[in-house]
Amino acid sequence: MPAFQTSPGTRDILAPESARWRRLVSVFADVVEGAGFGQIIPPMFEDLGVFLRLGEATEVVTKEMYDFEDKGGRRIALRPEMTAGVVRAFVQHRPVTPWKAWYAGPNFRYEKAQQGRYRQFDQVGVEVLGVDDPHLDAEVIALAWAFYARLGLTRVTLLVNSLGEPDDRARYVDALRAYFTERAADLSPESRQTLERNPLRVLDSKREQDRVIVGGAPTIASFYSSAASEHFTRVLAALDRLSVPYEVRPSLVRGLDYYRKTTFEFVGGALDSSQNAVGGGGRYDGLAEDLGGPATPGVGFALGVDRTLLECDAEGVFAAEDGAVSVFVVDVSGGLEALSLVADLRAAGVSADRAYEQRSMKSQMKAADRSGARFALIVGEDELRAGTVVVRQLVGRIGDDRTQSVVPRSEVVPTIKRALQS
Ligand code: HAM
Repeated sequence: MPAFQTSPGTRDILAPESARWRRLVSVFADVVEGAGFGQIIPPMFEDLGVFLRLGEATEVVTKEMYDFEDKGGRRIALRPEMTAGVVRAFVQHRPVTPWKAWYAGPNFRYEKAQQGRYRQFDQVGVEVLGVDDPHLDAEVIALAWAFYARLGLTRVTLLVNSLGEPDDRARYVDALRAYFTERAADLSPESRQTLERNPLRVLDSKREQDRVIVGGAPTIASFYSSAASEHFTRVLAALDRLSVPYEVRPSLVRGLDYYRKTTFEFVGGALDSSQNAVGGGGRYDGLAEDLGGPATPGVGFALGVDRTLLECDAEGVFAAEDGAVSVFVVDVSGGLEALSLVADLRAAGVSADRAYEQRSMKSQMKAADRSGARFALIVGEDELRAGTVVVRQLVGRIGDDRTQSVVPRSEVVPTIKRALQS
């Protein structure tokens, strides 16, 4: 075993997976830029205070934060998510509203690492600040939905809920606390602990022992103010109008405290239930104010890149593509021809690779085959003297009959370009 390996919960993403990763972000950018979003690239670390707004009672803050004191004595944290940083940026720069921002990048949470749950994971997401229109909630959800469709995913389901206005939510939390406290003796020890910190999170328990009690818990709907109720009704009507299918899930509370009114989650139908949340989001109308800005409504979502790709694998869609070059140069005349040929090809926009260390013809041809290139350009002593290059077709050939032709060196690049277009 090598002396150093990736830390638990982190991974190296190698080619061709890394190219698929980039493609996913580019599909996402396409979808959201088509809807008027501009990219924000916020820093990966911020003052710890920015993230404390995620909720002092949430696990993300109490257990999972990568926080430290920097050399200047500042209390810093690696971002566990991007919403808080984006809202901090909004408060700092005060862009014109509605402000529609999208992002992509890594986040850090000290979680128990397993398949689909990492300590460094990537998200793509959007945030809109300055608009409290239920149609926007639906539009934002529909964007994520369109993105999944563009990837070819068909087994993702959408769960939606509303947490009501802050007062509704507070009354609901009191009612939940009373309900669970009365039954605390029958709850799992883990849920008893959660109850002390945040009764809402007990609803998340997937433990068999808690199932019946959680199932019988009061639901948020009976605590909605009329404004919150109307907001939610309009979100659902807009989703209907957009033909985005959803399931209302009254127990959906999500793991961060800033949510108000609409919350939602996307569940991957092909993944194991411990890591099948492929994305989530909602409204966070109080966050800008909490971060020292003006009262500003906000709504957005983040989708987990790692998990979305696991769902793609499980559904057999959006596969990694091999990153083969178009041309492989084999030079047994000393190597200088290979040097200049690949330079000329690349300058003309043709992807090209070559072998090194003056290997034998056989070994270079093997490398050419392995590269997946469509053509090999072969230069031996004879070709060097005659000023020619042998162009041999490698893939896409019929049977074993490798077609090849001899082309003047000066004609090679245009010949290859034509051949690649056909
Ligand atoms: P979240 O639900 O904490 O929400 O994370 C969103 C998504 O990130 C999850 O559904 C999941 O796919 C992925 N994710 C989270 N933790 C991990 C992990 N440890 N390993 C792999 N993937 C993970 C947020 O982060 C909010 N900022 C979403 C939001 C945006 N709400 C409003 N705007």
